[in-house]
Amino acid sequence: MDEDARECWSEERIAVEGCERCPDLVDSRSQIVNGAGPTDADLLFVGEAPGETEDKQGEPFVGRSGDVLDDGLRDVGLSRRDVRITNCVRCRPPDNRDPTATERTNCRGYLDREIAAVDPELVVTLGKVPAETLLEQSVAVTNRAGDVFELAVGDSRWKLLVCVHPAATLYDPSQRDAFETALQAAAEYAGDGGQSTLGDW
Ligand code: URA
Repeated sequence: MDEDARECWSEERIAVEGCERCPDLVDSRSQIVNGAGPTDADLLFVGEAPGETEDKQGEPFVGRSGDVLDDGLRDVGLSRRDVRITNCVRCRPPDNRDPTATERTNCRGYLDREIAAVDPELVVTLGKVPAETLLEQSVAVTNRAGDVFELAVGDSRWKLLVCVHPAATLYDPSQRDAFETALQAAAEYAGDGGQSTLGDW
């Protein structure tokens, strides 16, 4: 996307308001949780769906997973203020279950619009749900963490780096290395203006 077109995008044009496509989620949410962070960020992190704290506060990754993400970003020299963070599905699923395939499909257009608007150097998926939703294939996230894929949205292409979900490092500390390695790769990529090849896709 060229710079002039990009300047036209405002937070208001990326944000979703009043969607009622998913009956279960309309019942379980207290609000729609849109993405947060600079609309021209080099790195766009995509999580699964809001949890309880995110649903209350209206911002992605502000609960325990968010603390892990913040710490991980800090460890690689980044801060939440530098990056944009969003989710595949913008409403909290009941009992924190995974969003269904239909719910992901219903929300996919909003995510595609956000990716196109932000036009990041790199999309970083946090966990299995966003990796599989965006790539439309099954992804063994722990094994593929740090790997780069091509993300196609319409006629446009972005690089997508797979990362484990921050919460996975709480349940399974052996995933910490994979999490840190992927964040380090993302930070290096952002730091060199997207020039790194990050391996082939
Ligand atoms: N987990 C996610 O995937 N997204 C959030 O916003 C919070 C926790």
